[in-house]
Amino acid sequence: MFAVPPELIDTPHAHDPVMLREVIAAADISAGESVVDGTFGRGGYARGILTAEPGCRYIGLDRDPVAVEYGTSLSEQLPGLEVHHAAFSEMEGIVRGLGLNSVDVVILDLGVSSPQIDQAERGFSFGKDGPLDMRMDTSRGASAAEVVNTMGEEDLANVIYKYGEERRSRAVAHAIVEARAEAPIETTGRLAEIIRSVVWRAKDGIDPATRTFQGLRIHVNDELGELERGLDAAESLLKPGGRLVVVTFHSLEDRIVKSFLKARASKPASKGRLMPWEEEEVDDTARTFALVNKKPLEAQRDECRANPRARSAKLRAAQRTDAVARGAATDTESKQSGADT
Ligand SMILES: C[S@@+](CC[C@H](N)C(=O)[O-])C[C@H]1O[C@@H](n2cnc3c(N)ncnc32)[C@H](O)[C@@H]1O
Repeated sequence: MFAVPPELIDTPHAHDPVMLREVIAAADISAGESVVDGTFGRGGYARGILTAEPGCRYIGLDRDPVAVEYGTSLSEQLPGLEVHHAAFSEMEGIVRGLGLNSVDVVILDLGVSSPQIDQAERGFSFGKDGPLDMRMDTSRGASAAEVVNTMGEEDLANVIYKYGEERRSRAVAHAIVEARAEAPIETTGRLAEIIRSVVWRAKDGIDPATRTFQGLRIHVNDELGELERGLDAAESLLKPGGRLVVVTFHSLEDRIVKSFLKARASKPASKGRLMPWEEEEVDDTARTFALVNKKPLEAQRDECRANPRARSAKLRAAQRTDAVARGAATDTESKQSGADT
């Protein structure tokens, strides 16, 4: 299978699953049901759900070969679990290839796992020097080093602005282009140094490299495109009554989930005030999901104290109706108008 370097196999429980209690409650699994966990990671949700309901089929996907290798060994001890190497945008093909036409639950817990950040070799962290990689799937695609050493200055600034929300994006892109003219930028430490030469530490103490690193990571892994395609795939795969559970960690992700669910659960157009003998015309094909919670759930205080990563988590859940999936023709208008709540 994959040739994963042994130094990349980390300790088994190095990722604390975020909002596990809430995810288990929202998934509401019964014996005999099937779950697709599109972001298997270190199997925190898999362990929790299979402990709560050992009789379910748990299909974990991850685009990171190291996570898949970990999951494959975990599946030997955890009946019901199977883990496959795939991006969650590919979930339909994977699940149908396993002989299933639909599933009861789809879970997405977005972003990177703690082991990915902690391993300097993966190149996600500006705190530890390592090769500038940032790919979750190390078997394909361009690394962050390839991006920063080849992308035009304006495109680079746009990536840093759009996905990193860095106001000094133009200055950062310019500094990168000047630095790479001297020598290629190959390490996270070097890139962080270049960023820090033009962005100053704010009062909140956040490292000036944080936003640029986030922007590059989102671009390298096409995280927002993946999310849009993954939500469409979940809509196609979920059975009537099936549950979609998504945990996001920043506003760019949450906005996409919120807009998707708002469009899919949108109220059918009303005729206005009806006469007593008139019936509301309900176009059920328009509503493929019913919202479980109007506002996103957030992690409880005890969890935020124990796991700072949980502080920015938002959980949105929705239940699939029996309407026909709308497919990739998403409601672009509502996608653009989505605001944070
Ligand atoms: C936040 S971690 C998930 C942690 C997991 N819930 C747990 O409790 O261990 C995110 C994981 O999803 C994976 N991932 C992120 N985006 C993905 C995508 N589009 N397709 C497949 N896996 C993805 C990452 O490689 C990472 O392992």
